Order: sequence, then structure tokens, then C-alpha cells
Amino acid sequence: MWHPEPFIKHPIPATRWPTAAEAQGALWFSPLRVGRLELAERTWVPAMVPWRATDDGQVTPEVLAWYERFARGQPGALVVEATGIRDIPSGPLLRIGDDRFIPGLAELVRTVRRASEGRTRLFIQIIDFLRIRRRPEPARFFREYLTLTDRHRSLFPGSDSEVRGALAMLPESEWPRVLDEREFESLAYGERERVTDTHLPHIRELPQVLPDLFAAAASRAQQAGFDGVELHCAHAYTLASFLSARNQRTDGYGGTRERRARLPLEVFGAVRRAVSGRFVVGCRFLAEECIEGGSTVEDAAWFGAAFARAGMDYLSLSRGGKFEDAKQPRVGWARYPYTGPSGYECMPTVRSDARGPFGRNREATHAVRAAVRAAGRETPVVLAGGISTFEQAEELLRSGAADIIASARQSLADPDWFRKHRLGRGAEVRRCVFTNYCEGLDQVHKPVTCKLWDHEDLDQPDTPRTADGRRRLVAPPWDPDAA
Ligand SMILES: Cc1cc2nc3c(=O)[nH]c(=O)nc-3n(C[C@H](O)[C@H](O)[C@H](O)COP(=O)(O)O)c2cc1C
Ligand code: SF4
Repeated sequence: MWHPEPFIKHPIPATRWPTAAEAQGALWFSPLRVGRLELAERTWVPAMVPWRATDDGQVTPEVLAWYERFARGQPGALVVEATGIRDIPSGPLLRIGDDRFIPGLAELVRTVRRASEGRTRLFIQIIDFLRIRRRPEPARFFREYLTLTDRHRSLFPGSDSEVRGALAMLPESEWPRVLDEREFESLAYGERERVTDTHLPHIRELPQVLPDLFAAAASRAQQAGFDGVELHCAHAYTLASFLSARNQRTDGYGGTRERRARLPLEVFGAVRRAVSGRFVVGCRFLAEECIEGGSTVEDAAWFGAAFARAGMDYLSLSRGGKFEDAKQPRVGWARYPYTGPSGYECMPTVRSDARGPFGRNREATHAVRAAVRAAGRETPVVLAGGISTFEQAEELLRSGAADIIASARQSLADPDWFRKHRLGRGAEVRRCVFTNYCEGLDQVHKPVTCKLWDHEDLDQPDTPRTADGRRRLVAPPWDPDAA
């Protein structure tokens, strides 16, 4: 993974764990209203794709085991991974684009309710993404993928297949001369659609099709028994791209902040109309895009106030995670939005700059929350990014940076960590070391596990493991009654 150069290797923060009585009186473990629901506490596990669905997007026993394990820790809320709203193949990622996905998702809901003893609120993140192709072999790119234009034809005489043949014979140093910027990028990185490709009908029509697709997905989530949906407006995906300052569409859905926020707000409106008033509709978006020419914290503050005014039930802030600065993938692999500087901002590691990886999204999220409050809204704001101690979480809440504290990697390292706090047993927390072994697995689409526990008890016959048998799939059980 990319890291700042030169880097400082930060130790994970020293901390002091609270007694059970202290935890009980803490803001982090106090209830909070989200929409018309109440969270038992302000602890939150944000969306994490574990690569455990079937190739056609269905819930598997491994998906159930993954969420059951988090639910045993009884966080205030648990958000199910980014789940596709379309009925199109997308590899082993969960989908909700058709009614046939409802029974599997309903089983997931029942599993979480049982394991958390009804304590954890369960939301599902719903996502749309545009097509991204793998980086091609150059010969194949010139033979099949490149759309020939008069420019290419003017460079070489002959039929189209002769032009393709001549292009394919050129040395690499000649590619920038014969290809335009976009063609060169498709060759070097793999083709990637953008929301600004309005010459393509399916991209032009996104504002007409997405509200209904999101609304149908949300309605299925409600039928499956979820407490709410989270509109994925963060990172590298479609709704985030509409919000981006780089979105210069000229059809009323790009350019100014009002126009960039228009589609996410229309999606929200359609979703809200499709579900009951008790059903929570929240949104995850970026406090900062962290790319050149991208949206800033001022944009995010404006969006936050607009989303709150529109009636969104919560705002969850992430940062970065964009395709624009992602590393060049190997041939045969697709770009991954967490490999460049903005990816680092999303999931920072201990190899950091002077600012360090812990609570890196704090100031930006605080600014968004302040804008929401200035707009007269009490909409809860969720903060994530390198938060792994009680002291950090409590201080962030008390200082007004956020209303809810989310932890992804620390919860993966130890899904029981919230419960351990409540029981005054924080000293037993298995602490995340923030070196991103888990994120490396996500990058190569392998089942996500944590290096701190995935080799434990592999000799035991009942240990759930990956297909190759080399890693356990969920954190070992924790028995609160054991000394
Ligand atoms: C393996 C993995 C998968 C993730 N998948 C998602 C996802 O589906 N949707 C999302 O919004 N964020 C996703 N994230 C980002 C996390 O929700 C979180 O914002 C990020 O890891 C920073 O929080 P942390 O420092 O507590 O880990 C993922 C993170 C990891 C490590
Ligand atoms: S592998 Fe485990 S310890 Fe390492 S960053 Fe991921 S959750 Fe933390």
C-alpha cells in the first residue's frame, strides 16, 4: 500500500481501559436516536466487504458467520458491506437488485438479531458503481478494445485491421503519441467509465434510472428486516462521483455544489418514499476527496447541511479512496481505489506522516457536523478512521467532532471489543496494529481476515477456514465467563 515518504512509524496509542462503571457512564456507551430508532450505544461497525458472497451475489454461510461474529460484540450499529443495487454479475459481492436476494438477506438479519440479543441495529450499505475493466495485454487492447478513430487511421494507411496491426507493433515509447490521454489511460490502467461520459446513453441516463433502482433496493432491505439503508455516496463509486468537484456534467447534475448534490438528493427522496417512516435512511460520503481538483471539506460541509435539511437520518463520514490516484495495476488486474494517496487517507497505516493515522478524519468531520448544527439540524454524524481506544472515542465525542464513533479494522481485529469495555475488561482487547494485511486481502479479492487471529487453532477440526484451509475465517470465540 502507498504511504507518505518519508514516513514516521507510529506506535499504536498507549491507553488506559475504563472500569465497567466508567464505561457505563461514558458518552460512547450512551444511547442515541437515529431517525425514529434508538441505538443502545454510539459504537458502530462500518461497512467492510469480506469477499464471502457467491459469484451471483447471494448470502452464504460464510457471510452469515462473518456478521454473526461482529454481532456477538453487540455494537450499537452494524452496517452490512457495500451491496449492489443492480441485477448484474459483479463477482462475490452481495447484491440486492432482485427479490430473489431477499431470503438470504432476511437470514442475515435474523442471524444478527439472535447473536446480538436484539441489541445491535442493522443497516445495509447500498451501492451503484460504473464499469471498470482490467488492465489489458497491449496486443489485445489494440486488436479488440481500442475504438479506432480517424486520428488513428490518419497515422497508418490500410484497412482497420492493418491500422490495428501497425499500432500493436509500435514500441511503448510511441503510445503517448498515437493515443489520446483517455485511450492511453485505458491501455495503461484498464478502461474506466466516468459519470461525465455523457456520450454513453447509460451514463447520460443515470439521473433517470438511479432513484428507482436505489428505491427498489431499499424496499427489499426493508422486506428483509433491516433497520435501515446507507446510501453509498463515498469513495470511488457512482454517487460519490456525482458529488465530486471533478463532476462537470452540463445537464444540471454537475458543476455547482447544488447540481452535484442533486442526484444523491433525488435518490434519497425516492428511497424515503419507498420505505416506512421508521426505516432509517442514512448516507456515507467523503469529508474530503483527497485528490487534485476533488471536493474539499467546504464542499462536504455544504453537502452535510443539505443532506440533513433534506431529512437524512444520519451522515457517516469517510475520506479519500478514489480511482484517480490509484496505483497502476498489473496486467489482468483492475484498478483498486485504495492504493494511492487518497486510498491511504481512507485506511491509513502506522507508516504515516507527522499527523499519524489515528483520527485523521477528525477535523473534517467536525467541520461537517458544525455545518449541520448551524443549519439547525441534530442529524447524528458518524466518524471513522484509525479509532481504536476508549480514550480516543470518548474524547472525540466530548469535543463535538462526532455523535457516533465507527471502527472498522479494530472491530475486525477484535469483534468483542465493545463488550469487553462494557464489562470493564478492556485489557483483554486484541488491538489492531494498523498495518493493513486485511486491506491487502481485499485488494486481491480474497476472503478478508485479520493477521492477529487467522492462524489460531487451525489444527482444530471445527475451525471455520478458507477454501485452501490456511486461514480461519472469523475471530476465535471469546467467553466472557472465562477468567
Ligand atoms: C476490508 C475492508 C473493506 C471495506 N469495505 C468498505 C465498504 O464496503 N464500504 C465502505 O464504505 N467502506 C469500506 N471500508 C472502509 C471502512 O468502512 C473504514 O472507513 C476504513 O477502514 C477506516 O476505518 P478504520 O480505521 O476504523 O478501519 C472497508 C475497509 C476494509 C478494511
Ligand atoms: S489485519 Fe488485523 S491488525 Fe492488521 S490492520 Fe487489519 S484488522 Fe488491524
